[in-house]
Amino acid sequence: MIDDKKIERALDSILVPGANRSPVQLNLVKSVERNDRLVRVVLADAALTGEVKQSLDESVRVAVAAVTGDDARVEFVAAKPEEVNEIRHTVAVMSGKGGVGKSLVTGLLAAELRRRGYGVGILDADLTGSSMPKMFGVEDRPLGSESGILPVLTRSGMPMIAMNLLIERDDQPVIWRGPLIDKAIRQFGQEVLWGKLDYLLIDLPPGTADAVLTVMQAFPIDGVVVVFTPQDLVEMIVRKALNMAEMMQKRVLGVVENMSYLYVPELDKKLELFGPGRGEEMAKVANAPLLAQIPVDPTIAKLCDAGDIESYDSHVVTDLGENLLSALGVSAR
Ligand SMILES: Nc1ncnc2c1ncn2[C@@H]1O[C@H](COP(=O)(O)OP(=O)(O)OP(=O)(O)O)[C@@H](O)[C@H]1O
Ligand SMILES: [Mg+2]
Repeated sequence: MIDDKKIERALDSILVPGANRSPVQLNLVKSVERNDRLVRVVLADAALTGEVKQSLDESVRVAVAAVTGDDARVEFVAAKPEEVNEIRHTVAVMSGKGGVGKSLVTGLLAAELRRRGYGVGILDADLTGSSMPKMFGVEDRPLGSESGILPVLTRSGMPMIAMNLLIERDDQPVIWRGPLIDKAIRQFGQEVLWGKLDYLLIDLPPGTADAVLTVMQAFPIDGVVVVFTPQDLVEMIVRKALNMAEMMQKRVLGVVENMSYLYVPELDKKLELFGPGRGEEMAKVANAPLLAQIPVDPTIAKLCDAGDIESYDSHVVTDLGENLLSALGVSAR
């Protein structure tokens, strides 16, 4: 779309105020034409306020003029985020019951893919109990315009959206009835400006509630990751999640056993606190690979509380990322 590499690099060096990503990364550049010593840049106006457009107009003109020596003119055309977004893979993280570590797995996966250099976005679809912002220490309020919402960025620069970033105070309970939740989730799909992403990870609410159904319907999901812990009734609960994925004709990309064991370095031993791990067994039930067995690790809990989950790294997380990429048929970076 942009023939001239110099101009593309210039446009990619500009940050869109409020989004802190470039118009190229946000996929806002519709066309660039150069003739008669004039460069005409057409940008989509999705989620941009008048003020942001003004500032962008100025910075684009300056940047383009600097690399071409020609005058530049910027035009905005009306567009909705859903027309602009270009997301290569969308993966949802689910479980049959609450509190097993879905949000943790979403967070660890996002951080790992980001470390590998991919463009990653996080959508917290647990509208009444969002926990991704806290895990990532994100508190900024998203900006936006009539036409859409700009997600906020995590410390490593991943765009994120969650309901508690949009409401007045994040300790307010969100008590909504089904149709409203349904509408809000669909709005997250249509109105959030993600731009170009390699991966959008969706943290689902627990269980198989309506909100999960809506996400499955409203997003082009490549597949789901099912999280469980090695406890009683786990098979029944995992089956519930698997049945739902099947009903919605979504692929199960893999299963993750969380709180699988506690590693005691002094003994160089893995203690299976909740009974023997059932990862392999569940992978068989799911007919999908076992992506990881995550240990109980006090550092994880500490980092979650401190909003710094992005800095947790271990071979388990590296493997988790590698195995997911391989399940998606992507050769790992
Ligand atoms: N492997 C682990 N080691 C240590 N702490 C963990 C581990 N897994 C989860 N936790 C702790 O448990 C908390 C709950 O996990 P998490 O929020 O990921 O569960 P969830 O399945 O998303 O819950 P919900 O169903 O409420 O959405 C985390 O904030 C973290 O502090
Ligand atoms: Mg959660």
